[in-house]
Amino acid sequence: MSSVSFSKDKIVTTSVLREMKVRNEKIAMLTAYDYSLAKIIDNAGIDIVLVGDSASNVMAGHNTTLPITLDQMIYHGQSVQRAVQRALVVVDLPFGTYQGDSRNALQSAIRIMKETLCAAVKLEGGSEIIESVERIVSSGIPVMGHLGLTPQSINKFGTYAVRAKTDEEARKLMSDAKMLEEAGCFAVVLEKIPATVAATVAQMLTIPVIGIGAGNGVDGQVLVLHDMLGINNDFSPRFLRRYNNLYSEILDSVEAYVDDVKTKNFPSEKEQY
Ligand code: KIV
Repeated sequence: MSSVSFSKDKIVTTSVLREMKVRNEKIAMLTAYDYSLAKIIDNAGIDIVLVGDSASNVMAGHNTTLPITLDQMIYHGQSVQRAVQRALVVVDLPFGTYQGDSRNALQSAIRIMKETLCAAVKLEGGSEIIESVERIVSSGIPVMGHLGLTPQSINKFGTYAVRAKTDEEARKLMSDAKMLEEAGCFAVVLEKIPATVAATVAQMLTIPVIGIGAGNGVDGQVLVLHDMLGINNDFSPRFLRRYNNLYSEILDSVEAYVDDVKTKNFPSEKEQY
């Protein structure tokens, strides 16, 4: 039972998110990649469902987010959008579909919007991709930015360590955040940066700032659903709070099923025709 009052009925739009920031009502965001889990989190009152390119890791078992394709993101986006009635659905533009060429970026964003019917797209980066952001926004597609740890650039940085720890990096991040707001982004995700830097960005911007490993001074939080449910039991960064241990629960259930089948305990007479 929730202790905070919020409306589960109101359909979430980008302007609702802006109003939430003004009211200081925190925004709850989670990832989903499939119909069944998206339906549950929408019914639970989540505000934003992110069809993240973390599907590359979580769904497909890759080491990075780089291999996932636009077609695969569209498949996940369609599955999620079919399930969601209230939350705002945002789909990640995957690596290689928007960097370098803003016309290509617009075509990728249009495919996502047309084929998934989602509400917005998310792009990683700041000044380097600003032309793509401007072009997509000017065609009427809402864009969410993503700064700090940007997993699509893992090969440039070489590590998933905390970002913006030096003054110089923090200044660049703040200037990128301002640039994304001015380019028309409706929100920005800040991943794995010091809480003080994230709080400063949230105060500086009028658009909502959603954090992951960015402390409590921002306008909302996002986690990867499979991590917070404990389906992945081999990923434990400091910022992650686990709300369940589904790895163990699923393991126990499947072991019990295997045992029942092997011992002819399943199906019983009541479970047959
Ligand atoms: O792809 C993803 O899941 C993300 C979140 C970690 C913000 O971008």
